[in-house]
Amino acid sequence: MADINSLIGQMTLEEKAALCTGASAWTTTPVERLGIPAMLVSDGPHGVRRVPDIHSMGAPSLPATCFPTASGLASSWNVDLIHEMGQALGEESIALHVDVLLGPGNNMKRTPLCGRNFEYFSEDPFLSGEMAAGLINGIQSKGVGTSLKHFAANNQEYQRFVISAEVDERTLHEIYLPAFETAVKKGKPWTVMCAYNKINGTYCSEHRELLTEILKNEWGFEGLVVSDWGAVHDRVAALKAGLDWQMPGPREQDVRAVVEAVRSGSLDEAVLDESVRRILNIVFKAAETPKGGEFDVDAHHELARRVAAECIVLLKNNGVLPLANPQHIAVIGQAAREAHFQGGGSSHINPTKVAVPFSELQQLAGNAEMTYTEGYPTDDSSRPELIEEAVKLAQDADVALLYIALPSFKESEGYDRPDLELTEQQVGLIKAVTTVQSKTVVILNNGAPVDMRAWLDQTAAVLEAWMMGQAGGGAIADVLFGKVNPSGRLAETFSLKLSDTPAHINYPGWNGKVSYGEGLFIGYRYYDARELPVQFPFGYGLCYTTFQYDNPKVSAQKFKDTDGLTVSVDVTNTGNVAGKEVVQVYVHDQKSRLIRPPKELKGFVKIELQPGETKTVTIPLDFRSFAYYNPAYKQWITEDGDFDILIGSSSADIPFSETVTLESSLNLPSLLDHESTIREWLDDPKGNVAFGPTYEKMRQEMKTLGTSDEDSDGVGMDMTGFMMEMPPLSILQFQQRSWDRPAHEIVEDLLRQVHNS
Ligand code: BGC
Repeated sequence: MADINSLIGQMTLEEKAALCTGASAWTTTPVERLGIPAMLVSDGPHGVRRVPDIHSMGAPSLPATCFPTASGLASSWNVDLIHEMGQALGEESIALHVDVLLGPGNNMKRTPLCGRNFEYFSEDPFLSGEMAAGLINGIQSKGVGTSLKHFAANNQEYQRFVISAEVDERTLHEIYLPAFETAVKKGKPWTVMCAYNKINGTYCSEHRELLTEILKNEWGFEGLVVSDWGAVHDRVAALKAGLDWQMPGPREQDVRAVVEAVRSGSLDEAVLDESVRRILNIVFKAAETPKGGEFDVDAHHELARRVAAECIVLLKNNGVLPLANPQHIAVIGQAAREAHFQGGGSSHINPTKVAVPFSELQQLAGNAEMTYTEGYPTDDSSRPELIEEAVKLAQDADVALLYIALPSFKESEGYDRPDLELTEQQVGLIKAVTTVQSKTVVILNNGAPVDMRAWLDQTAAVLEAWMMGQAGGGAIADVLFGKVNPSGRLAETFSLKLSDTPAHINYPGWNGKVSYGEGLFIGYRYYDARELPVQFPFGYGLCYTTFQYDNPKVSAQKFKDTDGLTVSVDVTNTGNVAGKEVVQVYVHDQKSRLIRPPKELKGFVKIELQPGETKTVTIPLDFRSFAYYNPAYKQWITEDGDFDILIGSSSADIPFSETVTLESSLNLPSLLDHESTIREWLDDPKGNVAFGPTYEKMRQEMKTLGTSDEDSDGVGMDMTGFMMEMPPLSILQFQQRSWDRPAHEIVEDLLRQVHNS
């Protein structure tokens, strides 16, 4: 490894400024005289999009394996498998001379309308963080870097370059940052990519609190921060905020601005040096991995098939699946011939090969007769004759397999979805086919939930196959024929309808701002709190076997937050085929000073069980499993009290609940001040002790005034309740004649007691 400090000492100001901006669409600026090489980055995240011409953003890329996109990956709930896929991505990066792969995307799914949700994992920060860390660790184990993106609160494509996400501090820390925090701490990505958007009025690229205070100082991120492509507006302000590397380049004007700012004294050269140091560290780290060679195209295609099969979620099954030797199969839908396996935009991969779903079926269908018709066009036009043709095929067959792909004009990077609907033709097709064929299986290819109310009831089975990667056609066949027992579980709630979704009345915002008014309540946190029925809950998915949970245990009934807890449960495969189960642990705080969601995922494990086999699953819970972020303390805190540990197979299927008592190790200062109400004084442990006698006297005085809760007829209200919402000072002022000291002195004295003790 080069001596970075000595190199920085030898670099001219101009060279340093140039290093902090790209030399092309995909490379850093080399400094040949000092032996500083160029580093090459490529998109990501579910394949390597290596564009041969480094000055071109959009040109076709070299062939690489296209794996399923993040919505699918998260549905696998299988961190080890994602890690294995990461290793393959690392190998392909090396073969294609890529130093850093631009991914994973780790933004939260705030609204299903976000056109780019297919590139993100989940509506839950815990699951997203674990998945992102798994992928990063897999890729980086090969000596190739990653870029965790888009940091942060990039939750819609609508006005994505400029919109300001108006999000309160607690929500930011509990919902929009933790998935990044986990990925940074567990995965140690070489780079983090800042988002285009603003947060509370400040561009992420200029957000010092985000990039420096939180990411670098608090979380200990040691890599470099790169801008999303074109996210820098003021290069000097961005450097000061902690944005090390601006992309794409070259941007001579910005380089000059940095040089001038240092010369004029408006930018401390030490700030520039720090960015240079971070960039050089990564550039030389990348250079340690020799590039070139080949990757195993067939092995990676097979891996992509295995991954895709594990991502598929069986949403409905009346028993028609797995297919039992049908003699005549009607295959309907153009996605059966032309696999819809990825989304549009910067993640678009040039696949090494593509499994044709129809041909893959044929290989497993034995001698069954198979017929095909396209069913719907790729645009939004209405083609009744295609539906008629499909009906004819379906009624003559034993079973109809309907391959329905959400077209790219309905879902892509760069723009949001107009609605949650399939096309009118697709809905008409499903309705018509299910009318004549009771054994109709719908196979969906999409990156985010669709509204199914119009047709779900008539179907026999539904498979959510996501944007399944190039080998997904084979994975679908595997699941349909029972070669693979489906084990995907939803990583996001499927609502019944758009107007039920959490961000509905705030999305997409106006006048350049979008209010995150639903706060902490996204995904199942919202549906649970509202007690809203959903189409399919978070964590849900069917399979071809059954599991039984027994013997739930917690390691202690009473525990200290810093010690944490271990939860265990026995799981038995009570069916006839091997299968995989995802055991999920949620935590519910029975009482907290600040409102909390009804339950939050804090642990999960995926296990494989043979028929009749039992395994004991153990899941650790730590301080953070019970804590919440309190903006008044600017930190994660725990409070003494009871928590329910919920063990189940989805957010809605919780067979066991164990109550435990937490003892907080924190000795937090009291937050009581002049405006604190009597309720707050009584709720505060120190306040309660100090204020108790004064409160008693206040109540007695209320009685002598004939206005107590025992004698409330005078004003027709419960006076205790009335007092609770008032600060002591206000009551004392009403009662001044009964006290021997001025009201404000009494309050000052009480405040001194709680803050000095
Ligand atoms: C996308 C990033 C991508 C970059 C480079 C941007 O428009 O938001 O995810 O890595 O382009 O292609």
